[in-house]
Amino acid sequence: MKKLWSGRFKEKTEKAVEKFTSSLSFDVRLWKYDIEGSIAHVKMLGRQKIIPLKDAALVLRGLEEIKEEIQNGRFRFHDSLEDVHMNIEHALIKKVGPAGGKLHTARSRNDQVALDLRLFLRDEIREILRATDKFRKVLVVLSEKNIDAVMPGFTHLQKAQPVLLSHHLLAYFEMLERDSARFEDCLKRVNVLPLGSAALAGTTLPIDRNYVARLLKFPVISENSMDAVSDRDFVIEFISASSMLMVHLSRLAEEIIIWNNDEFGFIDLPDAFTTGSSIMPQKKNPDVLELTRGKSGRVFGHLISMLTVMKGLPLAYNRDMQEDKEPVFDTVDTVKSCLNVLTAMMPKVRFNKQAMARSAEGGFLTATDLAEYLVRKGMPFRDAHRVTGEVVRHCVDNGKKMSELSLEEFRRFSELIGKDIVHFITVATSVDGKNSAGGTSKKMVLARIRKIKSRKRGMVRET
Ligand code: ARG
Repeated sequence: MKKLWSGRFKEKTEKAVEKFTSSLSFDVRLWKYDIEGSIAHVKMLGRQKIIPLKDAALVLRGLEEIKEEIQNGRFRFHDSLEDVHMNIEHALIKKVGPAGGKLHTARSRNDQVALDLRLFLRDEIREILRATDKFRKVLVVLSEKNIDAVMPGFTHLQKAQPVLLSHHLLAYFEMLERDSARFEDCLKRVNVLPLGSAALAGTTLPIDRNYVARLLKFPVISENSMDAVSDRDFVIEFISASSMLMVHLSRLAEEIIIWNNDEFGFIDLPDAFTTGSSIMPQKKNPDVLELTRGKSGRVFGHLISMLTVMKGLPLAYNRDMQEDKEPVFDTVDTVKSCLNVLTAMMPKVRFNKQAMARSAEGGFLTATDLAEYLVRKGMPFRDAHRVTGEVVRHCVDNGKKMSELSLEEFRRFSELIGKDIVHFITVATSVDGKNSAGGTSKKMVLARIRKIKSRKRGMVRET
């Protein structure tokens, strides 16, 4: 296939070089955006009389035909034409003749590829935002449905204080809220038109970038042509926001794996979302969750690879930047698939409320409540902490729960303890009493749920 840039070359490109430099196998995914950008560009060229209107019309028709051919799988891509941009332009020239050769006026692949990637990411970020919204909604519905379930809250993976399961689940809601905010913020910087920067310096031709921006629904245009063709901050930012989201999904996956473990028995995973072992017939493995946890590693890897690709590049475009696409594509696919599978699975998880409650009963989870009781009676917290520690040690030594101690036994540790103590050291009163803002009491958790549900846009935003 004769290259569109073959003019200054005497020799043909080495086969190995063609293969090595081609990005077609992956950037073919951008074809729709490439055509969309070209359509806007050629409309502008015609409107500005940079090319005759009849040529612009020919190009437009050609591009529409190519779009249809690709859609219907009738378009033949050639690897020797390097990338998706060259393939489409080549086909256009073949189709409409010399007018096709006018499409690339006042444009370079450098601003073209930046445009395509921004158009692609703009769509995908909106889709990811919708997917995170859906997942957050699932968490809220589960929290509301299980509002009375009490479980142990952990620090150092050791039972710490009793909490509501809903409070635990809604912690992930908050994380995902911040993730959404990060994607929304990133979207503002993705949503900038780079086209019209040409190779790096702009062009002598009288283009109208604002018109192109309007056609492609970009609220703003880039301000510096050199920056526009060499900036991949938006890619790094996107993968960074994705990495943070993956940290959160991975942590949730890890928790559910632990809760699902026999020793905990807090939940049952739906059969449809687990897999069997090829040798051990009794096994039902949480592979979906393990894969979610594992896939987070790929996304972090993509972040590091993009930071590394970019860190030493002089302005402006360098071919190194072709390496941006696979990390972006894989990040998009990974994030969406993890969100979607968890969104489908979570509503089908069966929470074993008895097991959770039982677990919250053992292990002196209300010890801090005893200390806070003593604080209410005027004891400095440090002393209350020590006294409570002594009570716990006494219980451990005598094989008793705190609730089994008599008032007399309690008073051996502090005269301040009265018979009202029984109301302060049960799991139920412990949870119910956590009324500080953001605390785990049913009142506070329900208030949060109400606030989330009353938002104007609702939980699922229209993007
Ligand atoms: N395939 C290239 C990429 O993905 C397109 C831009 C090529 N530009 C160039 N001057 N060689 O980055």
